[in-house]
Amino acid sequence: MAEAGESHPKVVAEAHGVDTFHPPEKMLANHPSKPHLANMEEYKKLYEESITDPTSFWGRQARQMLSWQRDFQTVRSGSLTNGDVSWFTEGQLNACYNCVDRHAHKDPDRVAIIYEADEPGDGRELTYAELLRQVSKTSWVLKQMGVRKGDTVAIYLPMIPEALIAILACIRIGAVHSVVFAGFSADSLRDRVIDGQSKVVITTDEGKRGGKLIGTKKIVDDALKQCPDVTHCLVYKRTGAEIPWTEGRDWWWHEEVDKWPAYYPPETVNAEDPLFLLYTSGSTGKPKGVMHTTGGYLLGAAMTGKYVFDLHDGDRYFCGGDVGWITGHTYVVYAPLLLGVTTVVFEGTPAYPNFSRYWDIIDKHKVTQFYVAPTALRLLKRAGDEHVKAEMKHLRVLGSVGEPIAAEIWKWYFEVVGREKAHVVDTYWQTETGSNVITPLAGVTPTKPGSASMPFFGIEPAIVDPVSGEEIKGNDVEGVLAFKQPWPSMARTVYGSHKRYMDTYLNVYKGYYFTGDGAGRDHQGFYWIRGRVDDVINVSGHRLSTAEIEAALIEHHGIAEAAVVGVADELTGQSISAFVALKDGHETSEQLRKEFVLQVRKSIGPFAAPKTVYIVPDLPKTRSGKIMRRILRKILAGEEDQLGDITTLSDPSIVEKIISTVHASK
Ligand code: WTA
Repeated sequence: MAEAGESHPKVVAEAHGVDTFHPPEKMLANHPSKPHLANMEEYKKLYEESITDPTSFWGRQARQMLSWQRDFQTVRSGSLTNGDVSWFTEGQLNACYNCVDRHAHKDPDRVAIIYEADEPGDGRELTYAELLRQVSKTSWVLKQMGVRKGDTVAIYLPMIPEALIAILACIRIGAVHSVVFAGFSADSLRDRVIDGQSKVVITTDEGKRGGKLIGTKKIVDDALKQCPDVTHCLVYKRTGAEIPWTEGRDWWWHEEVDKWPAYYPPETVNAEDPLFLLYTSGSTGKPKGVMHTTGGYLLGAAMTGKYVFDLHDGDRYFCGGDVGWITGHTYVVYAPLLLGVTTVVFEGTPAYPNFSRYWDIIDKHKVTQFYVAPTALRLLKRAGDEHVKAEMKHLRVLGSVGEPIAAEIWKWYFEVVGREKAHVVDTYWQTETGSNVITPLAGVTPTKPGSASMPFFGIEPAIVDPVSGEEIKGNDVEGVLAFKQPWPSMARTVYGSHKRYMDTYLNVYKGYYFTGDGAGRDHQGFYWIRGRVDDVINVSGHRLSTAEIEAALIEHHGIAEAAVVGVADELTGQSISAFVALKDGHETSEQLRKEFVLQVRKSIGPFAAPKTVYIVPDLPKTRSGKIMRRILRKILAGEEDQLGDITTLSDPSIVEKIISTVHASK
């Protein structure tokens, strides 16, 4: 956690008089049918029911939205206090059957996946029937490699259809997928493979992104040098590059799938059996394997897909998130496939070959819902409106996720991208919440730029005073955000460390789930997310922990101590600044600074590289040795006159020296 008193949200609930935007008339006029709810009254009624009678609400939804092989009697049991939440306990189902088979049976020729490759013009489409065949073959391959129900399979794949096929093949045989973002370094991949006890890893020869090649297989090889338990590596041929090969361990995807039949019967699993692990950063150095279970997670994904994004039959949904993060899990894979719509899988970047790439994709594939992080929107807005020529006339919903969206970006999204014809939904949620938790419902909820608006069904938010731990009732209040009731798609544990799960989320304020975010509730009950109150920073929508980056820096032999802080950045939201003190015998040099950045790239991945490294004689520490990051943040913000009492530092004179180092580098 952050030092006491330093990062409690201070902003007062949003001033009155902020513009409210109602679902655009033109969105409703162009709608192929109509939104799933008629108005806010319907939302309020259902919301009320979801909170006061969760058993009847969620029992009904679960039976409506999902196909069960065995019905459940218990809708919800356990509590936040005890950390033993369970949903649909006796129920049995198969996640892949729900995502693929039921649609393939009903409408085999419906397009499940539109693959838009890195190079414009490249790509292909897969129908639900074809997806079922490919997933089945891959299931056979995994089975043959010895994967059993409950085993974990690591997936290190770029954004290609095979990432989805691999995920679906795992869940078809009751295995647990652990997708590792293909931008992570070999060291990070190794840690995740070991922690999740994966024996099989799925990857590509190379990846292709923004016109550049990424040596995925080589990274996997490096990682696997230290993973003796991995018996098999399945390699999809993406570019055909020459790659290193370990006989007996490495197998070509195309050769293996060819050996097996095109149908594999889905394995039945229990509602509370694990579905996947996804590693995420927390306040301490080691990433946590957040575990989601089957029934509840699927329901959260399907329900938010339906109500938040207004998904209807025939829609073409494009979420720009990567499958390596939760947004990609829930909204590239699960939500659209559970609802039987078409999902766009985009391999490239918004800037390649030029800044109109997203808009061209939306036009070309007649996309109806688009979902992306504000960091991409900032980049594209800055590139200039002349790139937004595409008409995008099918767009009904524009989603935002991962970080607060500034009002001016929100308005640009609405006016320039959406031509005021699409409803902007700013969706707040986390890896741990599984699906959107505070969010407008497209076509229904009035919105205010910068506010994630209202709680989703089953979410009972509380604004808590971080000092007293008491809930602050009423409107026009600020504090930290917690939830008072369990919801179906909440994470059930941290893999191998339930205590960590309890301590991070459920023991902070007993009886509540603690989000780690500050938030305000304005005079009309709208929620405004202020950002993390712990040592988690958000760079371009990527969640990183300062402790993790510090741990990476300290691996360098020249560094005695390191402190990392996030600073506001116009383009990336926040950026990383590192302060390091050298070990004796090392001299400040440009070369060393470069090595430090490289060290982080190597330990975590390029996306975690500090933007600036300040080499300082020492860090500001209390007499008990605690690093005062607050002081570093203030110095970077140019608020040197507001450092507060520094006489408690073990060496107050260090502050002046740090200030001059920072000034000298500007
Ligand atoms: C932040 C990403 C403001 C928040 C889905 C949260 C947001 C963290 C929003 C989770 C939003 C996510 N407005 N902040 N709409 N959405 N966040 O686990 O700080 O990668 O705690 O999940 O992102 O990041 P994660």
